Amino acid sequence: MTYDTYIADSEKTGTQRVVDPETIRKILDKHSREQGALIAILEDIQAEYGYLPEEALRMVGKRTGRSLVDIYGIATFYHAFSLKPRGRHLICACSGTACHVRGAPKVIEEFERQLGIKAGQTTPDGEFTFQTVNCLGACALGPIVVVDGHYFSNVKTAKVKKILMSAPVEGNRIENVVA
Ligand code: FES
Repeated sequence: MTYDTYIADSEKTGTQRVVDPETIRKILDKHSREQGALIAILEDIQAEYGYLPEEALRMVGKRTGRSLVDIYGIATFYHAFSLKPRGRHLICACSGTACHVRGAPKVIEEFERQLGIKAGQTTPDGEFTFQTVNCLGACALGPIVVVDGHYFSNVKTAKVKKILMSAPVEGNRIENVVA
């Protein structure tokens, strides 16, 4: 997927925040004398916006003298970084082989149905990002789902609603999300 596609997707979700150049300047100033500052800069931008906006990365390139290709190389190498906005809650469902044979496709379908989005997307209000991942290393306990760092094992479709309810949502919006 190209960066433009990422941005187009995020624009569809309406969750992209406007980049404040002053905020980025402050981050750049803070790390200007550090060795290996690039990762620290990207971490701070990600902490501020929840992802790495293109405009911010261009500013980083100008200030550090690093090419955009270099910066994107780092941003895509580390899974902690995201090039598109993520929701307040991150849901990762394993789609690895062991989880697949234990029923993961139906579980994934149920998350997509209840959230009204496809894997890789964020709900329009920015509450949930749903992703699939390939093997989380707990195959015997699959299907595995991780929500904001909390693991759920042996997940069945009937558990999906309960898992979604376990993520605190502003204004009890979850009642509207689940069918
Ligand atoms: S295949 Fe899902 S944890 Fe390994």
